[in-house]
Amino acid sequence: MANLSNSNERDQWSSKIGFVLAAAGSAVGLGNLWRFPYTAGQNGGGAFVLMYFVILFLVGFTLMLAELIIGRHTQLNAIGAYRKIRKNWAWVGGIGVLASFLILSFYSVIGGWVVHYVVRTVTGGLALADTNAYEGLFVGFITNPIQPILYHAIFASLTVGIVMGGVSGGIEKYSKILMPGLFVMMIIIMLRSVTLPGASEGIKFFLAPDFSKIDGSVMLAALGQVFFSLSLGMGVIITYGSYLGKSENIPQNSITIPLVDTGIALLAGLAILPAVFALGFEPDAGPSLLFITLPAVFAEMPLGMVFALIFFLLVLFAALTSSISLLEASVSFVVDQFKLSRKSAAALLGLAVFLLGIPSSLGQGIWSDLTFIRGNDFMDSIDFIASNIMLPLGGFFLCIFIGWIWGIDNALKEATNNGKISFKLAGFWSFLVKYVAPLAILVVFFQGLRS
Ligand code: PHE
Repeated sequence: MANLSNSNERDQWSSKIGFVLAAAGSAVGLGNLWRFPYTAGQNGGGAFVLMYFVILFLVGFTLMLAELIIGRHTQLNAIGAYRKIRKNWAWVGGIGVLASFLILSFYSVIGGWVVHYVVRTVTGGLALADTNAYEGLFVGFITNPIQPILYHAIFASLTVGIVMGGVSGGIEKYSKILMPGLFVMMIIIMLRSVTLPGASEGIKFFLAPDFSKIDGSVMLAALGQVFFSLSLGMGVIITYGSYLGKSENIPQNSITIPLVDTGIALLAGLAILPAVFALGFEPDAGPSLLFITLPAVFAEMPLGMVFALIFFLLVLFAALTSSISLLEASVSFVVDQFKLSRKSAAALLGLAVFLLGIPSSLGQGIWSDLTFIRGNDFMDSIDFIASNIMLPLGGFFLCIFIGWIWGIDNALKEATNNGKISFKLAGFWSFLVKYVAPLAILVVFFQGLRS
């Protein structure tokens, strides 16, 4: 009998499509749903989307490939991977793993809000007669000291449960269900949205190009969005890459994943904005778009609660496939490093994530007077440290490491499977990873500190 239960063997993706769906699942998350459509609409519509594509190619693809190379080469978690290549570079992986852990703590709180909205829709509590009442409903919920924490626990438990199943038996298995499900639901909502009378206003807001709006700060917004949306700079893609077999074509995957991510972001724009405009609402960024504006939009639509349920399930799927990747980055480290079983590592880290999320939740209500960094509440402070400081630093040092320390030749050997597959963009990618990407990241980093 084949020895399937040998726990010393490192787990691997069982199929190419399974890996692509899991990595795309990590990339497709709240960033695609509540930031991309709005940012594009505000910043030149189609002109922004075009520029986003250029940056996606110049920086997104470059870093995606860089992380996959390091992960696949070492077959280790982000910290172990850097350490294996150069002992004194492990801290770069450490920045990433810590950032993913911090992000997960509040991502899970927001994930809990989504679970609550799914439950509320099913139990009929989302259909309000007065569309102005949705703001009160949302604020009333998130400022409650107990309820959101319970939902945060539910979301964290779902994440832990999937990660406990392992790479092929948990993450891959669920990504193969959740991602196609998300896609189908997105198409349904998109078709409903663009066929509403008056939908064209929303499509115009989203896609009509206005090149006069493109300036430095818009380019920076696009770069930051590429970074967060592709889950770069936090060891997540290194970790996922470490479960790839040596015969996979990683340059090709580094193009596919960003394209899927952007495709879903475009669909999200077409699913959300036409409906918002058709029913006479103003779009907004961030949580209020998802939790205040959209429920009101659905309430005004025929069969609205059916569409609301489909929509919030879709958001839940997107958030879950991202949160499992965030947890896996630290689980993988603890399992590789301390030889703890995957189940215990996932449970322990899940508990820590839950505890760290509590102040983020309380900061919406009873602790809202407590401010930490630059007058921000706990959640926004953690977000600032992780997304605006640790993430770009992780990405910057990743480029330096590949381009200047380990060396392009070694990296290209791994990318081409020791010369077995052709990689036509090798020369161009080398130039990007050595010069263009690190410079671009530095600019975003300093801009992010100033703004
Ligand atoms: N990419 C996810 C999103 O768009 C967020 C995320 C960031 C997930 C980093 C994993 C790692 O929401």
